[in-house]
Amino acid sequence: METKVAIINSIDNDIEYLKEAAGIIYDGGLVAFPTETVYGLGANALNEDAVYKIFEAKGRPQDNPLIVHVASKEIEYLVEEIPEIAKKLMDKFWPGPLTIILNKKDIIPNRTSANLSSIGIRMPNNEIALKLIELSGCPIAAPSANISGRPSPTDVERCIEDLNGKIEYIIGGMQSDVGVESTIVDCTVTPPVILRPGGITLEMLKEICGDITIDKAIQGKPDANLKPKAPGMKYRHYAPKAKLKIIKGNREKTIEKINEIVQNYIDNQKKVAILSTEELKGEFPIGEIISLGSENELSEVAKNLFESLRQCDDMKVDLILCQAFAEKGVGLAIMNRLNKAAGFDIIEV
Ligand code: TXA
Ligand code: MG
Repeated sequence: METKVAIINSIDNDIEYLKEAAGIIYDGGLVAFPTETVYGLGANALNEDAVYKIFEAKGRPQDNPLIVHVASKEIEYLVEEIPEIAKKLMDKFWPGPLTIILNKKDIIPNRTSANLSSIGIRMPNNEIALKLIELSGCPIAAPSANISGRPSPTDVERCIEDLNGKIEYIIGGMQSDVGVESTIVDCTVTPPVILRPGGITLEMLKEICGDITIDKAIQGKPDANLKPKAPGMKYRHYAPKAKLKIIKGNREKTIEKINEIVQNYIDNQKKVAILSTEELKGEFPIGEIISLGSENELSEVAKNLFESLRQCDDMKVDLILCQAFAEKGVGLAIMNRLNKAAGFDIIEV
């Protein structure tokens, strides 16, 4: 299949491209598009056959439900009821990087929800995404626009890398601002539960919800007794081709351990990348250094994380080393993605 790529610089000037892409969604085709979290791979959420194509193009397991993207808060036609707490969250954080799980109405096909009775809904904070949904005239089901298992794409080049030839259309915009996927909050239970950490942090949610818990499975290594409630969180994910190890401990010991491992690998003719903060990068005399940004600006680290993992693949390194981050604010989402990308290979020093 030939994939058309269109870069949107201005909604007004480039509206014809958006209309063309919206027509493809409406007709049951696939379109990748920017959102503020990561790029999404969209199809008409109400069309079972269209949604099936998403699973095919990504190589996504059939039991992993999709998030439905909307352009307004009027979602009554999609869900059974909207609890007060969900309304409050929508008012505060939509449009934005928050997915809310609610019980679905039959209008949403089982293929979209992977046979669950609930559905994740989100209104993205990106004007291209919102315009595309509006013009399509339907809600858009969209997982991240990567081949299953790979780091999510945060710019159009990475979408092209994964999906060129597999889908009808790729819409390009700016680099995604948040860089990690939306926070998922299950509002079908009381108190609500965070199923995946993201740009809307636990601290921000607590201010609105008061009581809110975190699904235990998202912080620890998955075990057979602790099944994540978001089916997608059980898969190996976000993984670069090279092995990734996380070094966790105080500053001096972390530096020492990273330098020791790098030396060891280089002595064995291997190539190592270090994902480093701005503050630490001067401490590593050998190895390929990729800066994630300042440790005092974790939103910057989140924004650069997936792109940095993909750069390591471009460099064809044998090993990637990364320091651990404090699990506060967006640090919780960063560590969740890093842990999964590393398959929980963590060296404590
Ligand atoms: O930021 C995002 O959410 C991005 C952009 C494109 O919007 N999308 C995204 O979709 O991350 P995806 O498919 O890569 O991740 C969706 C996650 C999966 O872990 C899935 O299992 C979970 O959401 N999920 C979806 N519906 C669910 C439901 N009804 N109950 C529990 N988990 C659900
Ligand atoms: Mg994904």
